[in-house]
Amino acid sequence: MKINVNKPYLPSKDKYYQYINRIWENNHLTNFGPLSIELEQRLRDYLGVNNILLVSNGTLALQIAYKVLNIKNEVITSPFSFVATTSTLVWDCIQPRFCDIDQDSFCIDVNKIETLISNNTSAILPVHTFGNICNIEELENITAKHNIKLIFDAAHAFGVKYNNKSAFCYGDISTISFHATKLFHSVEGGALVFKDDNHLEYAKSIINFGLKNNIPEFVGINAKNSEFHAAMGLCVLDDISYIMEERERIWEYYYDNLKDDFKMQKLNKNATNNYHYFPILFETESKLLRYLDIFHKNEIFPRRYFYPSLEKMPYISIDDDCKVSQSIASRILCLPIYVGLDRVSQDLIIKILRTKE
Ligand SMILES: Cc1ncc(COP(=O)(O)O)c(C=O)c1O
Repeated sequence: MKINVNKPYLPSKDKYYQYINRIWENNHLTNFGPLSIELEQRLRDYLGVNNILLVSNGTLALQIAYKVLNIKNEVITSPFSFVATTSTLVWDCIQPRFCDIDQDSFCIDVNKIETLISNNTSAILPVHTFGNICNIEELENITAKHNIKLIFDAAHAFGVKYNNKSAFCYGDISTISFHATKLFHSVEGGALVFKDDNHLEYAKSIINFGLKNNIPEFVGINAKNSEFHAAMGLCVLDDISYIMEERERIWEYYYDNLKDDFKMQKLNKNATNNYHYFPILFETESKLLRYLDIFHKNEIFPRRYFYPSLEKMPYISIDDDCKVSQSIASRILCLPIYVGLDRVSQDLIIKILRTKE
C-alpha cells in the first residue's frame, strides 16, 4: 500500500451528512451562509483571535492581505516556502526580495533583512516555516523602525501558541491555509486574521466583489467560500483534539527514533508545536536522492518540501542569492505524517532511514 507524505483527514460520513442536511434545510449554499458564520465563530473561539475572515484558500488570503494593506513595489520574503508565498507577489506585480533563512529554525534570518530594505520596501512577508514561529519581536522592531507592514504567511501554524497567544495574533495580518493537506482543513479554504478592525471590514467587502450594502464601492474579487466547505471545516474542527493528539504521537515516535541520526529544525522555545510536518536534513543532496529512491521502491513517498529555493524559480530575475536556503532546500525531506499512519509503516520508514549505506 502506498504511503504518501500526507493523507487528508476525513471525518465520519454520518457527521458530514448531518451538516449537509442543514444546507438543504437552509437552502443557502454560499455568500456568508449560516454554516460559514458558525465556522468563523468557532474558529474565533478555538484559536482565541478577534478579527478572522474565511476565504477560499490560503493563496487568495495572501492576495487579499496585499490589497488591504496597499502593498506595492517590493516585499522582503523568505525563499524557503511553498511557491504561493512568492507567486502571489509576482502575480500582483510586487517585486519579491529574498532574504536568506536561519540554518537552524528554517525561518527568515532577521539579521539579514535590513540590508535589503530600501525606499521601495512596503512590507516583510516571513513564513512560520512548518509551523515554527519566526523571531516575532525582531520582525516587529524592524517593521516599526522602517514604518513598513508585517504580514505573516502562517499557512502552517494552525493551533500554534506563541507566548500563550495564538500565533495568528501577530503582525498586521496573518494568512492561513485550510487546504485538504493541512492539519485543520475545509477541503479548500483559508483565512486572514487582522490586527485592525477596519481592515477586517474592508476585506469583507473586497472578497465579495467590493460590494458594500450590495452596491459596488471598491475594486473587489470573489474569495468567498461555500457552505459545503464550511460543513467539512465544522466536522474537522469537531475532531481537532483527536487530530492533534494523533499527530503528536506520530511526531514523537519519529523524533525519538531519528533524533540521533538527522539534523532537525530547531523549534522556537516560546511557541507550542502543532506537529504538522516532520522535516529531516540529509548531509548531502546525493544522499537524500539515494534514500528517496529506496523509499520509492517501497511505495513510500516523502516530499522534498520546499524545493527549490524560491529565488531560483524560472520567473524570478532578481539576483538575491540565498545560500542557506538553497542548501537546506536541496537536503530536506518531509516524512509522512497524518492521522491513520500506522506503526508498521512508521517502523519501515525509520528502518530505511537508519540503514547505513
Ligand atoms: C506556506 C504556504 N503558503 C501559502 C499556501 C497556499 O495555500 P492554499 O493551498 O490554501 O492556497 C500554502 C499551501 O500549501 C503554504 O504551504
